Amino acid sequence: MKDIWLWLVIAAAAVLGALLYFTLQTTQGHSRMTMEPPESQSLLISKGMELAKDLGCFACHSVDGKTLVGPTWQGLYEHEMEVILPDGTVAKAKADEAYIKESILEPGAKIVKGFHNTMPSFKNKVSDEDIQAIIAYIKTLKREHQHP
Ligand code: HEC
Repeated sequence: MKDIWLWLVIAAAAVLGALLYFTLQTTQGHSRMTMEPPESQSLLISKGMELAKDLGCFACHSVDGKTLVGPTWQGLYEHEMEVILPDGTVAKAKADEAYIKESILEPGAKIVKGFHNTMPSFKNKVSDEDIQAIIAYIKTLKREHQHP
């Protein structure tokens, strides 16, 4: 009789241990997949800033709200605006990731109303990773815009 209880306790401990192990495994895997480690995110942002500098974006885009040849990047992310399509019609657009990517590769596809089609295309000059870095940088300029 005593032996049975001993085995039961051992079996229960084994089951609990296994459960704990799998719970830890899945929560760790989960956070790895959904959360970018902060260091790599800030590396991406500074890479984006360097790229924008090296590619000459700042010749036409400010990050402090001033309008240069092109619209400022301050507060650009998720900003909604009117754009002119190639056939001359006016449409609404929102500066999400896809829009920013298109603006870099094909600036003439949607011209921000009030601006001219003077931005050169950066097709074949920037990789997809470069664009992701530039977008990550532009996203950080949003916060400042919300504090006048
Ligand atoms: C010669 C000037 C010039 C340079 C250099 C330039 N741009 Fe532009 N950019 C413009 C102009 C003008 C517009 C507005 C007209 C349009 O939408 O094409 C614009 C629009 C944009 C937009 C859309 C902005 C909005 O308010 O909707 C993005 C994003 C953008 N540029 C990113 C870039 C990036 C990234 C670079 C560097 C890799 C760059 N630009 C280099 C002139 C420039």
